[in-house]
Amino acid sequence: TTAQNRLIVNADQGTVTINRHIYGHFAEHLGRNIYGGIWVGPDSDVPNEDGYRKDVMQALIDLEIPNLRWPGGCFADEYHWTDGIGDPADRPKMVNTHWGGVTEDNSFGTHEFLNFAKKIGTEPYITGNVGSGSVEEMSKWIEYINFDGVSPMAELRKKNGQEEPWNIKYWGVGNESWGCGGNMTPEYYANEYRRYATFARDYGGNKLYKIAGGANDWDLNWTDVLMKNIPLNMMDGLSLHYYTVTGTWENKGKATEFTKEEYLETLRKASRVDELITKHSTIMDKYDPEKKVGIILDEWGTWFQVEPGTNPGFLYQQNTMRDAHVAAISLNIFNKHAERVHMANLAQTVNVLQAIILTNENDMILTPTYHVFDLYKPHKDATLLSHHLISEEVSFGKEKLEALSVSSSKSDDGTVNISIANIHPDKKIDLDVALRGIEAKNVTAQIVTAASIDSYNSFDKKDAVKKADFKDFKLNKDNLKIAVPANSVLMVRVK
Ligand code: AHR
Repeated sequence: TTAQNRLIVNADQGTVTINRHIYGHFAEHLGRNIYGGIWVGPDSDVPNEDGYRKDVMQALIDLEIPNLRWPGGCFADEYHWTDGIGDPADRPKMVNTHWGGVTEDNSFGTHEFLNFAKKIGTEPYITGNVGSGSVEEMSKWIEYINFDGVSPMAELRKKNGQEEPWNIKYWGVGNESWGCGGNMTPEYYANEYRRYATFARDYGGNKLYKIAGGANDWDLNWTDVLMKNIPLNMMDGLSLHYYTVTGTWENKGKATEFTKEEYLETLRKASRVDELITKHSTIMDKYDPEKKVGIILDEWGTWFQVEPGTNPGFLYQQNTMRDAHVAAISLNIFNKHAERVHMANLAQTVNVLQAIILTNENDMILTPTYHVFDLYKPHKDATLLSHHLISEEVSFGKEKLEALSVSSSKSDDGTVNISIANIHPDKKIDLDVALRGIEAKNVTAQIVTAASIDSYNSFDKKDAVKKADFKDFKLNKDNLKIAVPANSVLMVRVK
């Protein structure tokens, strides 16, 4: 079977940079993502720095996350930013109608978010309120955040303790405007976008990167209408949401208990994002052949049933090796489309959907998905390489899929990075790699794997899935033989 699994990497053929923002994240006011996950407040017994959980903060710093999207999601279109500034004691409380009907006390607002982004060294990406807000409200928010001069909003910011503007770049104009963000038609939203974007001003030398609210998965008409009706010079990015749902929305299946057939169904559905991006991109090419407007895949990931006994509105789910494979396959695909995909944001950071971190009162675990993002670090800002893969297939019941998924890139120092996922639950695959265009001398590798496809990290057993060094390969001139373990994700680095 050795000849069956072959990979040719063209190390001398690459022109497109893999934008590091493809490795971005998303934290909504939803469940225990912000409250309890990132923010516990300065008076909490949980170890914190100015109200931010120390453990979570450090994990995000270690992961070097390039950006963080906030405050929603659906929450963004009912959020009024002025409720979240000034003395926390005076901030009004509201109901988080979308997510569990809980009280939102607004103790985490603009300052708390932007200061957090600064502490963890990430670029903020804010989504403004189109659905229940106004052009004036959004315009003033940007003035509050970015204007360095004398104006009512800049003065208010200074009064609230922030002298310098934050100069943020990424700005979303509404979220899911076809649904929770206002149930608009694409024609109506396109007009609204033009109005809102007109008053989303650039201040000083800071140029906003404006992101229009894009389609839900296969709604190609939405993309077509927006591309047709919004002038290219008014929009930098167009968002796209794609969730991997096993079964149906009504019956999504459990995060930790699944058959091998369901496992493959999940991964097959995740893989379809390849075709999805191609389809939207083809429509965009009609209006924007130079690919100036980026696809911003600002919500993606698995969506399972909530864990038993938890609030259904909190979207809390466990995370297994299956999720690690979804992450690996998705990121490989996003890399492949790097010319058009300029950013992606996994939903969501802490305790929500395909989280990278889960917390309880005082403790934290890193999920398999966290470890894949950690493994994939070398791809960030590297040059995408072309490759050719021949992989055997794996099948269970009605489901069938290629066992291997690969992405390759070249770092500035010439190192070739090859990420490989072997989704086969129990078969090691001998992969024969031909390295073209590089004189390979040294190979190092790391792996994320575990006992089985449903292995996960719990508060009792935090390291069931972890990252480790990997040595089962052999280099002979330009030929590299890798024994890719079953149920594993690898990052192989060749120099
Ligand atoms: O990520 C959870 C929700 O999914 C977001 O709030 C919304 O944009 C999407 O429907």
